[in-house]
Amino acid sequence: SPLINLSNSMVYITRKVPSSGINHLIKAGVKVKQWDSEEVIPRDVLLEQVKGVDALFCLLTEKIDEEVIEAAGPKLSVVSTMSVGYEHISLDICRKKNIKVGFTPDILTPATTELTMALLLAVSRRIVEGFNAIKAGEWQTWKPEWMLGRGLQNSTVGIVGYGRIGQAVAACLWPLGVSRILYSTRQGMAEYVSFDELLELSDFVICACSLNNTTREIFNRDAFSKMKKTSIFVNISRGGVVQQNDLYWALKNKVIWGAGLDVTIPEPLPPFHPLLTLPNIVISPHIGSATVETRSDMCMFTAKNIICGLLNKPMPGRIV
Ligand code: NDP
Ligand code: DGY
Repeated sequence: SPLINLSNSMVYITRKVPSSGINHLIKAGVKVKQWDSEEVIPRDVLLEQVKGVDALFCLLTEKIDEEVIEAAGPKLSVVSTMSVGYEHISLDICRKKNIKVGFTPDILTPATTELTMALLLAVSRRIVEGFNAIKAGEWQTWKPEWMLGRGLQNSTVGIVGYGRIGQAVAACLWPLGVSRILYSTRQGMAEYVSFDELLELSDFVICACSLNNTTREIFNRDAFSKMKKTSIFVNISRGGVVQQNDLYWALKNKVIWGAGLDVTIPEPLPPFHPLLTLPNIVISPHIGSATVETRSDMCMFTAKNIICGLLNKPMPGRIV
């Protein structure tokens, strides 16, 4: 039975995580060690603690590279991240060492889609700016031309990264009267255009791609210069797809109209960062998947990945 097979297996969890996954691992009979803190595990502690483990339950904040994998030693057979993004894991090393790698696709798509829509609407309808204006005593009366935003109806939306989240965002946009949805990779219920055309044609540009060598800093001065002066940029992917100084320049100089970010470089963004001085930006602290249910489901999913991986069964979400 799985209980007997797993009783000698040790899993290391790199953070305090929802109890759902931990209980699942314990019920399956594996031994669990954990960095039981809200803070990121220091690198030297990680390197020490992974020694001899069979599986590693990690987050997007830990770089899982050759050093960590060597430190873990030959028993390590499964690495599973409680995230859908996996740019923090060296897949080549894992392939070379026959280590299975798991992630959490799909279950966080609805929550991240909600957050994308929230950011898009917060910027386009100037929710935070309006709230700040109220607090500053600037709300005098109802005025026909005060706090005017940019509506989605009849607009063109470009989605860079037309994967699970990108397509779910598109499904939310159609009922709001958007007339065209453009994408620059993959097929779907949208129009294929080049990246440059997408920038030039879109009223709203939403970035939901993975971070990889083809997407690093694609949103730079050149890209922002191609976008409409009235356009709004939303990024829920990774901070690394944006050249942030160029975004600051574009917002400050009204090269684009506004931006909404859930991801930045660095994370956390320091409270005195220049981007935070701009009125035409809304930033959330990387909370795309942060609902109680979704985080619990992601934790459970990661635990299931680990158990299936250890038992040599198909993992629910496997990258390698
Ligand atoms: P998917 O893999 O389904 O989608 C990623 C998409 O990016 C794919 O369609 C891929 O296209 C596309 N892509 C890759 N390279 C390029 C490129 N050069 N130009 C345009 N598109 C490109 O992943 P998900 O939709 O599930 O998640 C997407 C990303 O969102 C994650 O990798 C993660 O970084 C981020 N994320 C952020 C969250 C948050 O809390 N803010 C929450 C969840 C996810 P193709 O397949 O054709 O290569
Ligand atoms: C991911 O899963 O990649 C997000 O960034 C956090 O949920």
